[in-house]
Amino acid sequence: MEQLLQPEAVEALLRWYETHRRDLPWRHTKDPYRIWISEIMLQQTRVEAVKPYYTRFLEAFPDVAALAEAPEQKLMKLWEGLGYYSRARNLQKAAKTVVERYGGEMPADEEALRGLCGIGDYTAGAIASIAFGIRAPAVDGNVLRVLSRVCGSYDDIAKQETKKKWSEALRSSIPEDAGSFAQAMIEIGAVVCVPNGEAKCGECPLEPYCAAAKQHLTDVLPVRSAKKPRRVEDLTVLLIRDGVRTALHQRPKKGLLAGLYELPNLPGHLEEDTLPEVIRGLGFEPLRIRRIEDSKHIFTHIEWHMIAYTVQIAPEFDGFHAQSGMLLVENGDLRAHYAVPSAFSAYTKYLW
Ligand code: ADE
Repeated sequence: MEQLLQPEAVEALLRWYETHRRDLPWRHTKDPYRIWISEIMLQQTRVEAVKPYYTRFLEAFPDVAALAEAPEQKLMKLWEGLGYYSRARNLQKAAKTVVERYGGEMPADEEALRGLCGIGDYTAGAIASIAFGIRAPAVDGNVLRVLSRVCGSYDDIAKQETKKKWSEALRSSIPEDAGSFAQAMIEIGAVVCVPNGEAKCGECPLEPYCAAAKQHLTDVLPVRSAKKPRRVEDLTVLLIRDGVRTALHQRPKKGLLAGLYELPNLPGHLEEDTLPEVIRGLGFEPLRIRRIEDSKHIFTHIEWHMIAYTVQIAPEFDGFHAQSGMLLVENGDLRAHYAVPSAFSAYTKYLW
């Protein structure tokens, strides 16, 4: 197949990467476990947000075996605030597979990596190339943008088939130093051929080879079809407290924020005068109810529009509240051990 990128373009890209690469924690290692953790954390999450999580996570779980054996609550606590918690659960499932199937060593094979839970085409390619130097393509949204512009392509990058096509087309352009190439493409997409705002073509080593730069098409390419609008859900969040403890509710094992602890909440926006009955229905005696600020949280496919109340209740003596199925957790304990998703971050400040 004809090469997508000319050898001179690849050469220019690698030279640029050598001098311009950001110094990031996961760029000091070739340990496939560490590369894997970084790539999963970096999915849909900014580099600056990932850095502290990456360090803490690897201190707690330094290798595949440690992750495979991690207590669930500790795992979730270390992921708290990073979002998309299924990533953490998939990591652990995959770690168990790596222990059972590969003796605790990440397999040096693109297909075998793709067979692990939570590892798709991009991540398999990233680990294979960065950690093992295998000439595998690692094409994510950022790399798709770079390729669409360089090649002047109008293919819709929202389509899975476009990603597949570019990945296969890229293979024959991957040089010997596959790891640097993968990271260089990611880097160009992150800091030069940027997703928001104007592309910095003047700084780009690929500019002499770029169709979009030549034809002034960087504000037209890439083409991405519109996403479906998000579903809006109205919720009423309750901070139910007895002075020392706060009520937490564990979400169902499946679906959005599966198995995480949340502040109790009810569908709809409930008026204050309907609340005493609702709260008695849960089995608590409300002493004082106060409306606090509204907040919004945006997930990939859903938006939560929340109103909220603090609810002072009569002291409870049991940690597990049988009628509501909720836990009453002392605030210090809550902070140290329970992962409350950032969807509730507007309200967690009321807890300490
Ligand atoms: N985004 C995805 N993978 C990355 C990496 N290895 N470095 C920086 N940003 C990334």
